[in-house]
Amino acid sequence: MHIAGLELNNPLIVCSGVLGISSSLFLRLEKEGAGGVVSKSISLSPNEGYDNPTVTTVPCGMLNAMGLPNPGIDAFIEEIECRSLSIPLIASIYGKDADEFAELAERIGTLCEAIELNLSCPHAGGLLSIGQDPMLVREVVKKAKKAASVPVIAKLTPNVNNIQEIGIEAQKGGADAISAINTVKGMAINIHQEYPVLSNLTGGISGPAIKPIGVRAVWDLKKALDIPIIGIGGISKWEDVIEYAYAGASAVQLGTVLGTDGIGALSRIKEGIDAFCRQKGVSFEDLVGSVRKRFD
Ligand SMILES: Cc1cc2nc3c(=O)[nH]c(=O)nc-3n(C[C@H](O)[C@H](O)[C@H](O)COP(=O)(O)O)c2cc1C
Repeated sequence: MHIAGLELNNPLIVCSGVLGISSSLFLRLEKEGAGGVVSKSISLSPNEGYDNPTVTTVPCGMLNAMGLPNPGIDAFIEEIECRSLSIPLIASIYGKDADEFAELAERIGTLCEAIELNLSCPHAGGLLSIGQDPMLVREVVKKAKKAASVPVIAKLTPNVNNIQEIGIEAQKGGADAISAINTVKGMAINIHQEYPVLSNLTGGISGPAIKPIGVRAVWDLKKALDIPIIGIGGISKWEDVIEYAYAGASAVQLGTVLGTDGIGALSRIKEGIDAFCRQKGVSFEDLVGSVRKRFD
């Protein structure tokens, strides 16, 4: 299947952050049946992230505030330059403003098959994340797209009033595809310590708890956009992928499930999708947006 210039042998992509940037791990994911992998989000300089605790469990999911730890663009390039991966590698990048995103996109050049813009990070001089400001989203996408040599995917945050509006601006900025969603804002307090659990106090929820939020985001985006949408959030079984496809996702990304169930979840989910399509006599592409369309 082709999505935004990417050649995927199946719709299951490993999402950013949950599994890091090591080339050997990417190879294991390929062997387990991943259609593609997204790197951990990379910045211009190395970033240590927040102090522990950075992760806790919540009912039906995880709550994390890692603070986007990563070794920086130089180390990332060194790591991926000599990889021998046959599935697409998507580089996730973040910066504090549009110029930083553009610089990162330019540095990556053609070392990856696509770039994913992590728009959930805070921007310089503001309390909000970049992805909460439609005009800023358009500017970041536009500059990154101009600087990039490969397709650009804009990854949206669900922590907004109107995700359609943000998606429209990303499309106007020239995004080749949208991925949605990043984690949903949340918090946990330890009642015995009378203190928040995470060192950052608040964090982002992932896992099955957020699946309906992701499905709704894809549904809304599909109505407003012409570019492909990659669904993310709470996928743990093949039925979830079909649900995302019905809402309008051309492919999906998996994260938390690979931590809770191990990377074998990839082949398990893939087999389920293949069996479902075989039984219905359709291709995965036939499913994309097919329920959404009935309500246009
Ligand atoms: C521990 C952890 C680290 C993450 N790091 C990143 C990151 O670096 N960049 C990013 O765009 N998303 C990051 N995410 C968000 C995931 O890519 C994904 O959007 C989110 O977890 C929802 O998918 P899931 O429910 O399948 O995990 C992270 C998520 C988790 C749980």
